[in-house]
Amino acid sequence: MITAIYPGTFDPITNGHSDIVARAACLFDNVIVAVAKSTSKTTAFTIDERVAMAREACAGLERVEVRSFDGLMTNFARERQAKVIVRGLRAVSDFENEFQMAGMNRHLNNEAETVFLMPAEHLSFISSSLVREVASYGGDVGNFVHESVKTALQERLAR
Ligand code: COA
Repeated sequence: MITAIYPGTFDPITNGHSDIVARAACLFDNVIVAVAKSTSKTTAFTIDERVAMAREACAGLERVEVRSFDGLMTNFARERQAKVIVRGLRAVSDFENEFQMAGMNRHLNNEAETVFLMPAEHLSFISSSLVREVASYGGDVGNFVHESVKTALQERLAR
C-alpha cells in the first residue's frame, strides 16, 4: 500500500490542484491532501475554510482524504506513513522552487520520495492568487474552481 501526500496552502483549492489529486489517486493507493496550517503566506481563508473547500472539491474522488497539518510537512508525512510527496509542476518557472523544496524535504525525511505531476494543459496557468484576484474584481472563476469555492470567493472577496 503506497500512501501519497499532496501538501499545499490551497487558498483556495483550484481545478488545477484537483486535477493533480485525481492523477495521484490513479497512481497510489491512498492520497492525503495536506492543507498547511502555518505557511509563509498570509491566507485569504482560514485553515478550516481551506480544508472544507478542499473536501468539497475532492468529494467525488475515492481513496482521497483531506487533512490539515501544522509544522513540518515531512513530519506529517512520516506520521501518516506516506512514502510519496506529490507536487504539481505547471511550468518551468515552478521548477526552481520545487527543486529546492524537494531537496530540503529529502534531507528532512529520506524515506519519502517527491514525485511531480503535470496538470492538464488547459489548467496550467491557474494559481490560487490569480483566481482570488479575478474573483475580487467580479470576474467569473467558474471554469477554474469547484462551485462551492466559487461561492466562497464571491462571498469573501467580491468588491
Ligand atoms: N493548479 C493550480 N495552482 C497550482 C498548482 C496546480 N496544479 N500547483 C501549484 N499551484 C499554485 C498554487 O495555487 C499557489 O499559487 P499562489 O502562490 O498564487 O497562491 C502556488 O502554485 C504554490 O502553491 P502550493 O502548491 O499550494 O504550494 P505552496 O507554496 O503554497 O505550499 C507548502 C508550500 C505548504 C507545501 C510548504 O510550504 C510546506 O510544506 N510547508 C510546511 C512547513 C514545511 O515543511 N516547510 C519546509 C518546506 S521545504
